Amino acid sequence: MLRDQLLGKLIIKVGNLQTLILGIESSCDETAAAVVADGREILSTTVASQLDTHAKYGGVVPELASREHLRAIVPVVREALADARTGLDGLNAIAVTAGPGLVGSLLVGMTYAKALCFARDLPLIAVNHVEGHIHSVLLAYPEISFPALALVASGGHTHLFAVSAPGEYRLLGKTRDDAAGEAYDKVAKLLGYGYPGGPLIDQLAPFGDPRAVRFTRAKMKGNELDFSFSGLKTAVLRWTEQRDMGSEIAARLKMKNASVDEWRAATPQATLDLLASFQRTVTEELLSRAVASAEEIGAESILVSGGVAANRGLRAAAAEEKAFRFYFPAPGLSTDNAAMIAAAAFPKFQRGEFAGFELKAQAGLALAR
Ligand code: KG4
Ligand code: ZN
Repeated sequence: MLRDQLLGKLIIKVGNLQTLILGIESSCDETAAAVVADGREILSTTVASQLDTHAKYGGVVPELASREHLRAIVPVVREALADARTGLDGLNAIAVTAGPGLVGSLLVGMTYAKALCFARDLPLIAVNHVEGHIHSVLLAYPEISFPALALVASGGHTHLFAVSAPGEYRLLGKTRDDAAGEAYDKVAKLLGYGYPGGPLIDQLAPFGDPRAVRFTRAKMKGNELDFSFSGLKTAVLRWTEQRDMGSEIAARLKMKNASVDEWRAATPQATLDLLASFQRTVTEELLSRAVASAEEIGAESILVSGGVAANRGLRAAAAEEKAFRFYFPAPGLSTDNAAMIAAAAFPKFQRGEFAGFELKAQAGLALAR
């Protein structure tokens, strides 16, 4: 009996040794909360997507996003705590995305995180959303060696960072115009597909010939590690203008809640070829600059994160690159989530890097320059 009691106490002690961080993410159009132990073990991750709200407008409407966050934040956090079988008392800290993102959206997560920290006397940790994406990879692979190269490609960012250690970043290149995910979304919109465009183009691309349409690769003056995707988007526009695609696009615009098979049936072979060629070009742009950057800094590991990291064409092409080891997030962690925010907060917790209640939401917060 005594032995059992002692053992019970010991287990509770060992349990307490884990650092539990609640992450809250609301920078764009997903309201997310997650509990992560020691920056590695995901105990829960909840994401409330606003896709249906924004889809009919073909992009994120900031006012609607803030309103949806307000509606979702309390139940999402409650669900994340319940799934992790813990309560606020079981937490060691609360981490929240401080930027970059939509300021109204950021404010919802941040205000709620501050209120919870104030009420429960918990430390608050500010996390940069882009650093969060990098941690969506780091959390799954403790074996990654440094220096590493991080490519973050999402709807809002396309960045290359040298990572000398978790928390130490140097910006090597970034997009000068559209982000890679934004290019996907704009091309999809132009062709009459729904929002967001990335996942659907990714699913349709395998049915087309990726060599059918030859796009000129972007040549960058100055920093050759920078990206540019607006020329590619314009080239797709020109391609459509040279063809009589009005009725094809109009028919797709009428489609609602269609399956991939239905989208495919509504897409002539020439358009499937265009999508496949577009995807190949984006993939080549991303991988060639990631590889050149990795060579420049002597990195063996390339970490790819952000919504575009979910892309199957990109993952397949990366697997062909034998000179580097590519690491991608686990399924569901490429697009916005809060597990990556809680994971990124753990090294800051260890270093005692806490934020005060004067913390501000910063729409243009940079990770490194
Ligand atoms: O990281 P994320 O959820 O939000 C931002 O921080 O922007 O990324 C969303 C972006 C959207 O532009 C979406 O079209 C793109 O990621 N995306 C994809 C795929 N899944 C999401 N792009 C290409 N292929 C995919 N499978
Ligand atoms: Zn993101």
